[in-house]
Amino acid sequence: MTRLSAAIDRIQPSATLAMTARAAKLKADGIDVIGLSAGEPDFDTPDFVKEAAIAAIREGQTKYTNVDGTPRLKAAIAAKFARDNGLDYDAAAEIGVGVGGKHVIFNAIVATVNPGDEVVIPAPYWVSYPDIVAFTGGAPVPIAAGADQGYKITPAQLDAAITPRTRWVLLNSPSNPSGAAYDADELGALGDVLLAHPHVMLLTDDMYEHVWYADRPFSTMAQVRPALRDRTLTVNGCSKAYAMTGWRIGYCGGPAWLIKAMAKLQSQSTSNPCSIAQAAAAGALEGPQDFLRARNDAFKVRRDLVAGLLNEVPGLDCPTPDGAFYVYPDASGLIGRSAPDGRRIDSDEALAGYLIDAARVAVVHGGAFGLSPAFRVSYATSEALLREACARIGEACTALR
Ligand SMILES: Cc1ncc(COP(=O)(O)O)c(C=O)c1O
Repeated sequence: MTRLSAAIDRIQPSATLAMTARAAKLKADGIDVIGLSAGEPDFDTPDFVKEAAIAAIREGQTKYTNVDGTPRLKAAIAAKFARDNGLDYDAAAEIGVGVGGKHVIFNAIVATVNPGDEVVIPAPYWVSYPDIVAFTGGAPVPIAAGADQGYKITPAQLDAAITPRTRWVLLNSPSNPSGAAYDADELGALGDVLLAHPHVMLLTDDMYEHVWYADRPFSTMAQVRPALRDRTLTVNGCSKAYAMTGWRIGYCGGPAWLIKAMAKLQSQSTSNPCSIAQAAAAGALEGPQDFLRARNDAFKVRRDLVAGLLNEVPGLDCPTPDGAFYVYPDASGLIGRSAPDGRRIDSDEALAGYLIDAARVAVVHGGAFGLSPAFRVSYATSEALLREACARIGEACTALR
């Protein structure tokens, strides 16, 4: 009676959501935990976006819409791709909208991957990629890129990972969990590898496009290598850029055949994303973008603070990333040590468990992102809390023998 499908048995619950729930439970029990595990900006959704949603409610935009997005939102997305990325997508045929970036990626993979197909995923990776692939019966093929290579894969690694069974390569820049970002030259070099493998599709997850600190501009593959445009799905969304994680709007630009297949799947699952959230997303994309700079400036101060403090902790090596709001310290120097309570730190999962128990700081262990030993720190919180958290991490790590 309680038998589950083989597909559901192939996937795990999200490790980041699990750690965030664990920290929330401890807090609710009155324990002073600092949560650095959640993947969302601590800023509020901008007022002009909220106003767009309120106006939509008042105007009666409260009914079903086109399955994969209103014409207005699709036009706003096409204009965004042209403005920010120099990409020319047909709003009606080449743009799709889903219930968050996760849903868009899920639709793309489920619509195209058959059992036995391979999907190449640079590690450390966003937690959901391998599970979404596994759900279809496809095989995730990770490529390990450690701190020594700035958490970025090389063209030679990419070439070696591609086989005749490869269906997709998933690229995420800036990356969750490492914050690493490929510049135009690095992307171009990876693109040249893909040009030599015409059977492979590319999904670029640009969710952190606007959380960006480098002097050079953000780049995406379809812009850098236009010859790949017709086999690239450019995924983006409102969650991180506009602090709209709860509104659930993600979108993509890509070949018409794929957008159509994704809409077909969506028509038999969620139907349209919330009509009011779509109006808010259109407002976000059409509205002033200058507030992004002030938010990035604040994030950059925090990045420098956290990377600086964690690098002072003996046993941690914390690269300073170019984007997103995470750092991913390598913890090789701490593995094999013992805690004052006698427990052995034999993995990054044990280290994250020790940090929540002894330091009251919630981080996510690197194993969840496919590259160990390390852990992810989200610095989307106040400087005061970040200072306190890093001090606690430092104290707990120094106590390891
Ligand atoms: C790399 C990456 N892609 C996609 C998503 C999904 O975003 P959304 O909340 O819009 O589903 C996230 C969210 O954490 C992410 O970090």
